[in-house]
Formats: sequence, structure tokens, C-alpha cells
Amino acid sequence: MKKILFTLLLHATACMWHGFFGKHFMKYTLSLLALAVLLFSCKDNGNNNNDNMVYGAPKATVTKEPFSKEVIKGPLAFAPAVPAIPDADTVDIKMDATHKLYEVSRGVFYKAWTFGDSVPGPVIRVRVGQTVRFSMTDRSNDTLHNVSMQMNGQPLPNMQHSIDFHAGMVNPEDKYRSIFPGETIHFEWTANYPGVFMYHCATPSVLVHMANGMIGMVIVEPKDGYPTKVDREYAIVQNEYYMKKQGDVYVLDTAAAKLKQPTYVTFNGKAGQYVPRPLKAKAGERIRMYVMNVGPNNPTNFHVIGTILDKVWLDGNPKNELVGMQSVYLGPASSAIVEFVIPENGTYPFVDHSFANAEMGASGAISTE
Ligand code: CU
Ligand code: CU
Repeated sequence: MKKILFTLLLHATACMWHGFFGKHFMKYTLSLLALAVLLFSCKDNGNNNNDNMVYGAPKATVTKEPFSKEVIKGPLAFAPAVPAIPDADTVDIKMDATHKLYEVSRGVFYKAWTFGDSVPGPVIRVRVGQTVRFSMTDRSNDTLHNVSMQMNGQPLPNMQHSIDFHAGMVNPEDKYRSIFPGETIHFEWTANYPGVFMYHCATPSVLVHMANGMIGMVIVEPKDGYPTKVDREYAIVQNEYYMKKQGDVYVLDTAAAKLKQPTYVTFNGKAGQYVPRPLKAKAGERIRMYVMNVGPNNPTNFHVIGTILDKVWLDGNPKNELVGMQSVYLGPASSAIVEFVIPENGTYPFVDHSFANAEMGASGAISTE
């Protein structure tokens, strides 16, 4: 858009010089002014049209240093919360790979592999043009930190891990490579496109690492922010667990994962957690949800009962706009920003409208009570 306007502006300038001493002088001057106003008031809300893309980044480095006290650092939040965007060109973020017993449903403790001790991992939120300077330590052998795993009476596995940011445009062989327990990888990437992007561990078997919990969401806001104003924002990550019992706890059932037959399907890592504790809203409010289906295998059909998705931005990019949707269909590694109004007081369940998934835990509620 800006390019077209700029061309017109140049054209008008040329015309003006042509007609400088002629009778059309005023006409050309006025059109030139109008175009200039249009050009400088035009916001490119979202995409960069390849003008300011940052491709690639310096080579990743791998270091060995003592385990730090914190497993995360930087402007992060745990879904459904979304963090604020720091006002800086570069954002420093650290999320360590850990092994944790994670309560997926009441009394169901799963031997999860995590980013930052959480399934899903923390929500990262940046703006187009910002550079994320990222680091991650593989703490799978950290005997002090991973206490819950040791209490289960088994030695800690020495497991390689990695991280792959769908929001980045960098050489995956370099940045997304696996590191060994005790190692720390450092690399950076710059946010080129606005959207809601997945991150995940990319160490083979990728299915195993994702199904074990190494998944999460990155929100990249357009440079000038979103075109709408909302009263509340929530992050929803949908994932599947495939489980079998081992002693008192649950572990991955790889065969079930390959058959795509989940035990639980959850919003933000815990089955049905927002049914007894609904997300808050008020009547008349406009709500924005960042919905990311991390799979690893199955699609979702996200639906809010009692209202209509007023705006849906596929993959979270405002240029991919749909309106008046009853649900949005998202395959694995697909996302959307959905906005809707709470029409009156009440409790509005949100579900994966593939109801087998809803019954396996992909069901929650947003309520004015
Ligand atoms: Cu991993
Ligand atoms: Cu991926």
C-alpha cells in the first residue's frame, strides 16, 4: 500500500514540475498535498511487505555453566495470562528444559518434559521488529531441581532437548539443534510477521517431545498494535496427552500417540480446568483470545457457546480476517486470534466442538459471575 502511494506521490511531483508555470499548477499542488497526507497517515497494520524483514541471525552458541536458580527469565506469563511487551529493540528470554511430574487432571500425575516447569511453556509476547535473544539450559539431569522425578524412585534420564520457534526465520540446523543435559544454547531471532506462533522441542522423536509437554505460544503483535480495542485478553493453548500408567504416575503411551488417540485434550495443560474456575468477564465486554492448537496430532474446532466470533484472524495476523464465525477450525500448529462480545450476564462455555475432545478435557468457560 505504502509503495503504491509513494509511486503516486512521485508521479504527482513530476506532474507538478511539468505544470509549474501552467494553469494546472494549483490542481497538481493540491493532489500532491492530498497524497502526502494519505501516505503519512497510512499504517501498515501487520505485514512488512518484505520491506523490513530480518532473515537469519548470528550463529548459535552452546555453553556449559552451572544451573541458575530460575528456570525462566524475561517478560513471560503463564497462559491464560499474556505478558506485556517490553519497550526495547531486544528482548532477553530464558526458558529451561526440565522434567516434572505434572498434574494434568485431579490425581493424574504425568511425567512431563517442560519448558520452564509448565505445560504449556510460558507465553512469549513481542512486537514485529523486536529481536528475541533466547537461551535455554537442558536441566534434565539437574538432580536438585527435578526433585519430583527422583521421588518416583527412578534415575533422571539424560535427555537431549531443543527449541524451534515458528515465529523465527533462521537456520533450524543451527538454532534449533539439540543440546545435551547441562548445556545451554543461546541464539536470537527477529519477529517478522504478526501472529500467534507455536514453539516446541524439535529433538527426535519430535512426537514424543511434544506429546510430553514441550510446547508453547509466541504472540507477535503488529508494529502498530491490533486494529481493535478489547477489554480482556486470554491465551489458550490446546494440546493432547497420550498416557499409560506406570506405578503411581502416568507416562507417555507412544503407541496411542502414533494412533492419534489421546487420553486427555486440554486447554492450557490441565483437563477441564476452567469449568470449576471460569475465566472472568463482564457483560458487554469485548474479549480477545489467542488460541493455539499445538496438537501434536489432532485438529480443533474452537467454539464459544452463547456468542459469535465477531472477528477471527487466522494465525493471529489481522490481514487474515474472517467475521461472524461460529467456530474456527485449526489443524496442529495452527492458531487464531478470536474476538467476541459477552452479550449479557452468564457463563459461556468454550469447547473444541469436536466433542470427543471436549469430553477428554478441551472444555472451559468464561463467566460474568
Ligand atoms: Cu525435548
Ligand atoms: Cu514445528
